[in-house]
Amino acid sequence: MTRVLCIANQKGGVGKTTTAMNLASGLALAGQKTLLVDVDPQCNATTGMGHEPTERHPLVDFRPLRESLLETYLPTLSLLPGARNFQDIDALANSTESQAVMVADHLSGSLGSFDTVLIDCPPSLGPLTRTALASASEVLMPIQCEYFAMEGLSQMIEVIRQVMQRPNSRLKFGGILLTMYDPALELTAEVDREVRDFFGEVVFQTVIPRDVAVSEAPSHARSVIDYFPRSRGARAYVELCQEVMERV
Ligand SMILES: Nc1ncnc2c1ncn2[C@@H]1O[C@H](COP(=O)(O)OP(=O)(O)OP(=O)(O)O)[C@@H](O)[C@H]1O
Ligand SMILES: [Mg+2]
Repeated sequence: MTRVLCIANQKGGVGKTTTAMNLASGLALAGQKTLLVDVDPQCNATTGMGHEPTERHPLVDFRPLRESLLETYLPTLSLLPGARNFQDIDALANSTESQAVMVADHLSGSLGSFDTVLIDCPPSLGPLTRTALASASEVLMPIQCEYFAMEGLSQMIEVIRQVMQRPNSRLKFGGILLTMYDPALELTAEVDREVRDFFGEVVFQTVIPRDVAVSEAPSHARSVIDYFPRSRGARAYVELCQEVMERV
């Protein structure tokens, strides 16, 4: 069964796209046939992989998805690009419950040839994120180690619960990831303690350090694992891939 990991948090700038790109690349390098799906109208995952957003969003185009798949610099990693087209975004975002289910079916029906699919979500709890969650088997939530880290998490968790309760949902909590971790900061230690006390084992042991190589990599259309393999950021993402593969 294809694993579909949805990378979601309604907070902006917490490392969703960075995690989606690096996890996708790391799993592809480990030999898994991997697909990165961009449902964020910002299209950061698309441009970060060196591609242009498409005219029509492949998920509302209703052509077979495989016709929209793009190759990347890794033979085992494909990309389903995002679109900035407002009509399509509205169609996805204003879709009724039954349309959302159709999109989810469309996505899951076309994914059989992949071992793992990663969906990069926009910073919102709206229907785009709900549609992505509805088609996922796991949700992975990056949390940035900063003062407002825990704020808004209860709404996010409520939306995840609602999706889990849908009749055909196979969604599980895949894990919480601490990002932009700076061990020199007391605040980082505080967030780490608070998140682990509250969520327990669901929090990944691996933490992603704040590392300039991580933020530079997308401008070279590469994951940090390929751009600067010896960097702390790259090593952390490789470690995260191992943890994700162990958590099947
Ligand atoms: N570990 C890290 N070290 C340094 N910079 C990072 C790290 N992770 C992410 N960044 C940078 O932080 C910014 C936000 O990251 P990213 O785009 O992945 O977040 P996001 O949650 O996808 O944002 P959005 O909510 O807008 O989609 C980017 O400029 C990215 O390069
Ligand atoms: Mg993003």
